[in-house]
Amino acid sequence: HPVKDLLGRRILVTAGPTREPLDPVRFLSNRSSGKMGYAVARMARYRGASVVLVSGPTWLEPPAGVEVVRVETAEQMQAACHQWLPEVDAVVMAAAVADFRAVSPSEAKIKREADGAPGGGDAAGGRRLLLELVAVPDILASLAQRRRPGQVLVGFAAETGRLEDLAREKLRRKGVDLIVANDVTRPGAGFESETNAAILLGADGTRTEVPLVAKESLADRILDWVAARLAGPARD
Ligand code: PMT
Repeated sequence: HPVKDLLGRRILVTAGPTREPLDPVRFLSNRSSGKMGYAVARMARYRGASVVLVSGPTWLEPPAGVEVVRVETAEQMQAACHQWLPEVDAVVMAAAVADFRAVSPSEAKIKREADGAPGGGDAAGGRRLLLELVAVPDILASLAQRRRPGQVLVGFAAETGRLEDLAREKLRRKGVDLIVANDVTRPGAGFESETNAAILLGADGTRTEVPLVAKESLADRILDWVAARLAGPARD
């Protein structure tokens, strides 16, 4: 990268989905591939930062020179983020955290047939199973509560409608400096694709639209904002 404007900075990036177990062989998760977060980690490294990448399960090759911490559940991701928070100048939270987990995951594999009951049954007559879910902690909001002055916090907002309204609400509610709002229903944007489009909404009132570009390019635009903010006067 031509500009080493993050030299001497340490950045924590999260990427990928989390998995919340239902039983020993099944989990709740989402479509995140990790590409967006890995792109942020790679570009931050190119720009000179030392990077810690807290990653949910993905098949992606970790970027060279980046320290990778592998996690599975939201709880593990939260623990890893809090462990690293005191060490970093900025956090970019691109992970798609599963919002809910099972209240009590089964210790044994859940069976399709109830014990002793005959198998089979048509669609209408099949055995029903209710899963009780509970919301997992909001990792980003918990980081915002514990951050020290001067640390820059960036979140994403994955929306399926009313993009800017809902993203502004998240900016306020989570107490972060920047929200990267992406409409995940837009073709070529959001989950799994190589490209993404976003509106960058700053708590300082800045608003930047990034058209559909490679995830690396969007990552660079996010890092431009972070670099400018880190270079600015210390905040209280
Ligand atoms: O991984 P890819 O396939 O490349 O896809 C990229 C992406 C669509 C996953 C990415 O661009 C994106 O939008 N990531 C955030 C996904 C998400 O969980 O958004 P949200 O609107 O539900 O959450 C808002 C913010 O709070 C996010 O920064 C999220 O990481 C964070 N969060 C959410 C829930 C939770 N329990 N704790 C959190 O910290």
